[in-house]
Amino acid sequence: MNLIMKMLAAPATVLALWAVSAQAATNDEIAKRLEPVGQVCVQGQECKGMEVAVAVGGGGGAKTPDDVIAKHCNACHGTGLLGAPKIGDTAAWKDRADHQGGLDGLLAKAITGLNAMPPKGTCADCSDAELKGAIEKMSGLK
Ligand code: HEC
Repeated sequence: MNLIMKMLAAPATVLALWAVSAQAATNDEIAKRLEPVGQVCVQGQECKGMEVAVAVGGGGGAKTPDDVIAKHCNACHGTGLLGAPKIGDTAAWKDRADHQGGLDGLLAKAITGLNAMPPKGTCADCSDAELKGAIEKMSGLK
């Protein structure tokens, strides 16, 4: 690498790191997200109150709608940030469902993303069923 390339590469790295940390800070959820990682529950042991952490950390275990919402959707849908339909505002969700052809239409948009709504609502490892569970719970629609 010549000197010019190095000089260009260094600030780019700093910028990338800054972007990542800025995202985490605005999210305000970083501590919450890190929580399950710090909790170790060995298979075969009784781990009271850690069922959710086991489900997440165990890989393959289904995430509950509450878990997905708390970790991923609530950041925007809890307050209606950026125009997101609010959790429990069934009328707003129903209006959207009617436009998208029902819950499965909403699910399709949730997977691809829609304007400020990020693909999969930032839950990259959520299955379609897990996303659908979260949508049902937030909207109150079935
Ligand atoms: C970064 C903020 C943000 C997060 C996180 C987020 N959403 Fe959204 N969501 C939005 C916004 C904003 C809209 C409205 C988009 C629009 O209509 O322009 C939206 C709309 C939706 C819609 C309606 C789509 C439609 O067709 O009208 C669904 C379904 C949805 N979100 C599901 C989810 C789920 C499930 C999660 C969590 C796994 C999630 N969202 C996380 C911001 C977010």
